Amino acid sequence: MSNVPKTGLGVLGSGKGSNFVAIAEACARNELNAEVRLVISDVPGAGILERAGERNIPNRHLEPGPFRTKLSEEAEAAYVEALRAAGAEWIVLAGFMRILKGGFLRAFPLRVVNIHPSLLPSFPGLRAWQQALDYGVKHTGVTVHLVDQGVDTGPIVSQATVPVLDDDTPERLHTRIQEVEHRLYPEALQALVSGGVRVRGRRSYRN
Ligand code: GRF
Repeated sequence: MSNVPKTGLGVLGSGKGSNFVAIAEACARNELNAEVRLVISDVPGAGILERAGERNIPNRHLEPGPFRTKLSEEAEAAYVEALRAAGAEWIVLAGFMRILKGGFLRAFPLRVVNIHPSLLPSFPGLRAWQQALDYGVKHTGVTVHLVDQGVDTGPIVSQATVPVLDDDTPERLHTRIQEVEHRLYPEALQALVSGGVRVRGRRSYRN
């Protein structure tokens, strides 16, 4: 793997950044042949920015604009420009709490990846672990998928199951889901950046 050039990643996040840390550590261990070139958050002072700073990885807050659930057109253009200037080839969403629209997605076609804390298409949207508990399923899990214009709807790259235990609380279930995320996301990203995944329609195939 060592003589293959590292793929540039741009990471977007709004929260504490535990998935970003798992990805950065996988890069440092050469298990993921990539380098995080820039971390952007829509939330000033977000944990993910601090985690990046501790690792000397370029990071910045970029204003999202006036909307609550998406970026304004101007903000979207600023995010694209910053990511391109940093050399990001793949965009990794790691707890980014805004929907990305056509302009952003057209700038990085089939190169925007997300992780969701359920087995999609079950429980899209917010607090998916709570939704799983409320519904009473016996298994939930984690999904890594490419991002399309919908919410949590793009082609699925990788999934893993997590059992729901009889005495689970939302916090305990979320913690176990996150442990699986931290293993699954770097593994799926390595498959993607190495060209090991083909996408046809909704379906992805490992080479
Ligand atoms: C993760 O649970 C992920 O599934 C969801 O947002 C959360 C981000 O957590 N999309 P963190 O900021 O990576 O700790």
